[in-house]
Amino acid sequence: MRLCFPLLLCLAAALTSAYVISPPHMWTKLILTHHWPTTFCKMEKCHVNISYWTLHGLWPDKGIDCNSSWHFNSSEIEDLLPDMTKSWPDLLKPLSPEFWKYEWHKHGTCAAKAPSLDSQHKYFSKALELYHKVDLDSILKKFDIIPSEKYYKLSQVEGVIENFYGIKPKIQCIHPSKNADFQTLGQIEICFDRDFTLMDCEKQFTMETIFKGEWDNLIAADKASGFNVCDHDMPVYYPPLSENA
Ligand SMILES: *[C@@H]1O[C@H](CO)[C@@H](O)[C@H](O)[C@H]1NC(C)=O
Ligand SMILES: *[C@@H]1O[C@H](CO)[C@@H](O)[C@H](O)[C@H]1NC(C)=O
Ligand SMILES: *[C@@H]1O[C@H](CO)[C@@H](O)[C@H](O)[C@H]1NC(C)=O
Repeated sequence: MRLCFPLLLCLAAALTSAYVISPPHMWTKLILTHHWPTTFCKMEKCHVNISYWTLHGLWPDKGIDCNSSWHFNSSEIEDLLPDMTKSWPDLLKPLSPEFWKYEWHKHGTCAAKAPSLDSQHKYFSKALELYHKVDLDSILKKFDIIPSEKYYKLSQVEGVIENFYGIKPKIQCIHPSKNADFQTLGQIEICFDRDFTLMDCEKQFTMETIFKGEWDNLIAADKASGFNVCDHDMPVYYPPLSENA
């Protein structure tokens, strides 16, 4: 963050930029969140046989549950269902649309404040489009970041992503239980601006964020998910599918 002084000028600058760039309440960043099924299922005690990064969600940086009367309706995305099932599977209930319904209500109805995403079909198809465009799973493989019993340094994983996409991701891990000396790779976020151009995920601190308490929401959301931002000083375990998956 730029240093500025005195404090009042900083406040003014932050407020101005927040309001000039976008109307209040409108999101300015979309977070495409991928999770690693093996790690997710270690945490949630489920069973999967999927060894590629799947979609967790497409999250605007502002708002949660923006329109509770806009019900999820899977007939509106019928043409997308084969891809949804493969790319955005419900790891807990593989045959259920519950996960998509949850994501639509929590995040989709907020994303839908932008005309570019103002229908269920637009929202889900854009998420799939971005997921395939990013193609994170292939890029990691291509640069030799593969599930393995050996550990990586966080900087290796981060380096591949930063070099290839030219932006900073947010990489999340499950932190070790007592006495373990590694963290487990779980989630990778890639961020886009309102025009769907890649951007750094790093949080931009604006006074608007702080006044509205959204910063707390973001931190709370991280904690609730069971993930933390990965630690730079601890080995990273990228778990392969276990034999008895
Ligand atoms: C897991 O999937 C692979 C190929 O996708 C298949 O060959 C294997 O039999 C599956 N294993 C189980 C336990 O379902
Ligand atoms: C909420 O969604 C319903 C159903 O799509 C729509 O009719 C209504 O205008 C929306 N409300 C707001 C505040 O966007
Ligand atoms: C769900 O969407 C379909 C297709 O757009 C529509 O025909 C149907 O009425 C909708 N169902 C509900 C409960 O809104």
